[in-house]
Amino acid sequence: MIDPFGRRISYLRVSVTDRCDLRCVYCMAEDMSFLPKAEILSLEELERLCSAFIGLGVDRLRLTGGEPLVRRDVMRLIQNLGQRLGPGGLRELTLTTNGTQLTKYAEGLFAAGVRRINVSLDSLDPATFKALTRWGEIGKTLDGIFAAKAAGLAVKINAVAMKGVNEKEFDRMIAWCGEHGFDLTLIETMPLGEITGERSDQYLPLSLVRRDLRQRWTLQDSDHVTGGPARYMTVAETGQRLGFITPMTHNFCESCNRVRLTCTGTLYMCLGQEDAADLRAVLRDPGIDEAGLRAAIEAAIARKPQGHDFVIDRRRARPAVARHMSVTGG
Ligand code: GTP
Ligand code: 5AD
Ligand code: SF4
Repeated sequence: MIDPFGRRISYLRVSVTDRCDLRCVYCMAEDMSFLPKAEILSLEELERLCSAFIGLGVDRLRLTGGEPLVRRDVMRLIQNLGQRLGPGGLRELTLTTNGTQLTKYAEGLFAAGVRRINVSLDSLDPATFKALTRWGEIGKTLDGIFAAKAAGLAVKINAVAMKGVNEKEFDRMIAWCGEHGFDLTLIETMPLGEITGERSDQYLPLSLVRRDLRQRWTLQDSDHVTGGPARYMTVAETGQRLGFITPMTHNFCESCNRVRLTCTGTLYMCLGQEDAADLRAVLRDPGIDEAGLRAAIEAAIARKPQGHDFVIDRRRARPAVARHMSVTGG
């Protein structure tokens, strides 16, 4: 699938649930109302949609949420998708998770064919972690991370960089990731969803962070590519990679290869735009067959916009995009 700007769409992110056991302050409001069950696609429906995308050339699939591992029976979907790994099918099946359920699922994930996962961990300090997630216990996430490592999964830690919150911790996180053999990616906060607190006050441009880190760490250029948006460097002192995801200061839209499917079957062609295609209606229409479903997906890809228009703006009271990250899955 090639979009109007000549980009090959080969990567699908699937948010399998909008629910989460945590409430990261930049992601959800505290009193979120979640979607009613009737609106949510069944696992079979999600699998059918994923299959259609694979048939159209998608070869990387990442499950997200909310928290993907809180969806009941999600392992069944993961196992079935794992069967699609291999020539002519998927090159990679991965997850972005908050880690809390990994003690339960890490081994099953590896057995299903998952080889690497991204775990969101914005702070190593228990009190900061609790404040950021509103009630999370860091021990549970750390236990999950180590269970993943023990199961043979490569772990990348994702940390959203926030001024006055975790900005003093990056050295410690680089060292900790180095010690345990994890890559680390720092992410710029994106203005999605109504949240409590003032996001623009916390926004931290990663260009400044990188300049500061270079005073203490040797950051070497790396040609590591994952198909994701991070630009990677290697930290010479630890040998681990450090990625920077900079949608605000250096957007990567020109090389975008992805679209996002939500648990209601809505396909967003861009994280930072509202335009979407309702694939659930197509999927549930008895008059539409497999070819019709594929045609609907191709028609949506033909509408993919050139890029996002996120702006961190103190004068703009509303976020650039009204839906929460937990709906679209990051
Ligand atoms: P890999 O490099 O494959 O490990 O994955 P990744 O870093 O792309 O994926 P992950 O799910 O860990 O996402 C990390 C952050 O990147 C999240 O905050 C996502 O919202 C953000 N992100 C991923 N894709 C895009 C994108 O297309 N546009 C924008 N603006 N942000 C993205
Ligand atoms: N801006 C940037 N990253 C975000 N994430 C969630 N909300 C935001 C936001 N507003 C991150 C999570 C997770 C990934 C899926 O998206 O921390 O790592
Ligand atoms: Fe849950 Fe992830 Fe959102 Fe945090 S960022 S509330 S862990 S979905």
